[in-house]
Amino acid sequence: NLYTAEIKSFSPTNADELETFRIKFLGSKGIIKDIFDEFKSVSPEEKRTLGKVLNEFKVLAEQTYQSFKESLESQASGAETQIDATLPGEGIEIGSRHPLSLVRKEIVEIFKKLGFSVAEGPEIEDDWHNFSALNFPPEHPARDMQDTFFIKKDAENGDIALRTHTSSVQVRMMENGKPPFRALMPGRVYRNEAISARAHCFFHQVEGLYVDENVSFADLKQTLFYFVQELFGEGTKVRFRPSYFPFTEPSAEMDISCSICKGSGCQMCKQSGWVEILGCGMVDPNVLENCGIDGTKFTGFAFGMGIERITNLKYQIRDLRLFSENDVRFLKQFQSEL
Ligand code: PHE
Repeated sequence: NLYTAEIKSFSPTNADELETFRIKFLGSKGIIKDIFDEFKSVSPEEKRTLGKVLNEFKVLAEQTYQSFKESLESQASGAETQIDATLPGEGIEIGSRHPLSLVRKEIVEIFKKLGFSVAEGPEIEDDWHNFSALNFPPEHPARDMQDTFFIKKDAENGDIALRTHTSSVQVRMMENGKPPFRALMPGRVYRNEAISARAHCFFHQVEGLYVDENVSFADLKQTLFYFVQELFGEGTKVRFRPSYFPFTEPSAEMDISCSICKGSGCQMCKQSGWVEILGCGMVDPNVLENCGIDGTKFTGFAFGMGIERITNLKYQIRDLRLFSENDVRFLKQFQSEL
């Protein structure tokens, strides 16, 4: 009874007092242990009444200990989370735009001045929009498993794949509208290549399309010439080399004078003074017809470039993998650019 009163009035102010309480009553040499040892030697009749009283006493001691333990603990953690409003605040880190977004924006801004709008389309494409409408013969090597990530092989209705270029958006645009068309198609594209400093299984493109009456190769050259002066600076030289794409005829690849060494020879241009930046050509009349456009009345040009390549040149980045690794030490370097 004396102990019961002591337990009931117990009110620790710190963990040490509580621990003293635990050792005194609940410890291996504590009061409760002693009482239960004595209890073994009482007569069976006494055991019945005394047992109940002792048990209640033991439960009271345990509950008292447990509830003070919990309240002391919650007090302690509460103190830690309490905010001292007088302390100076923590600075919030400012993010930065991804270099590929910066360059895409810059490309789009330049072409906007020439009246180009922006069009988008799905990254999962069917065979028609990615290949067939673009005049790819069925046996064309670009359809090979090596380049294309197929999602579904379907001989009857056409395969489903991740788009390998954003030319598919050009097809969708021409199918769904009437000329003139003047638009850019930026977006992510996929090719089944081993990942290295120079290749990745996905990258970003900006393609462009201009279809109207009397669009000529001269328009193509002047448009791209203007673009390069704006992006890489006045005086950048261009040259066109004949090339082949199934969807353009004639086709060309465009080189610019190396923006890094200014033509004197460096690693980027492999000492040649020139770097290739895009593919282009006059839209093949077959493609226009496939998209429901009169190929005898309308002509057009198209071009396509990899944003990674342009970004590499602009910022002298030598490893493509940096673009997708999200290393803040790399990304932070573009903080000052808007
Ligand atoms: N679609 C081509 C590619 O992905 C680029 C291109 C577009 C070439 C338009 C010519 C005309 O490589």
